[in-house]
Amino acid sequence: MARKPIIAGNWKMNMTRAQAIELVEELKPLVADTKNEVVICVPYTDIDVAVQLCAGTNIKVGAQNVAWAKKGAFTAEISADMLKELGTEYVIIGHSERRQYFGETDASVNARLKTALANDLKPIVCVGETLDQREKNRTKSVIRKQVINGLAGISAEEMLKTIIAYEPVWAIGTGKTATSEQAEETIKFIRGVVAKMFDRKLANKVRIQYGGSMNPKNVKELMAMRNIDGGLIGGASLKANDFSLVVNFDK
Ligand code: 13P
Repeated sequence: MARKPIIAGNWKMNMTRAQAIELVEELKPLVADTKNEVVICVPYTDIDVAVQLCAGTNIKVGAQNVAWAKKGAFTAEISADMLKELGTEYVIIGHSERRQYFGETDASVNARLKTALANDLKPIVCVGETLDQREKNRTKSVIRKQVINGLAGISAEEMLKTIIAYEPVWAIGTGKTATSEQAEETIKFIRGVVAKMFDRKLANKVRIQYGGSMNPKNVKELMAMRNIDGGLIGGASLKANDFSLVVNFDK
């Protein structure tokens, strides 16, 4: 069964509201006739305007995190209800920058994932090894742990709604892409872990993205790999033209 490619932009902490309006308006016509799924994961403060501007287009809007709790005394957190009310469809969970700078763990990733799923937000769960871990040959054990613990306790039906993004930390924002073979090898490994947790048939339906310096130049080669189903794009998602070239990699 063919997996529909999904190209998602992760704007990170970029784009004021005024800048977001400009970027979305520029992007809309450039990606209008793709068959691939297009998502932009924007800062919380841009969600409202992005959803309004993308209404009736093929661009879906996502957030970059979601609280695990429903509501209450959790200063600076944003709940699933808040995101849903704005029309948010996707949510990134467990990005390496959250793990690295904000103490996110597999346990908090798992709690956020369950909340997202319970509220019909489509999760993009990020996993990836650091350079040190790769050099010490620990890539597989690190990734296995992140996948097993991060996805623990979800149902098969929920697994099918969940997207996994493999983002080697050493390739993020560094201009250093994993080679397509490196990306394919690890993503194939992740699919194998999912197959062990559920079953092979289900694992073959789960979409797994690559992220880390993906751009108009390397997207074709990465997307030609059997197990790579899309991309999570940082820097190149901040320019309409670059992002549209990634989205339209198959044209
Ligand atoms: P870059 O594309 O800027 O390397 O960022 C990748 C990323 O972290 C997407 O979530």
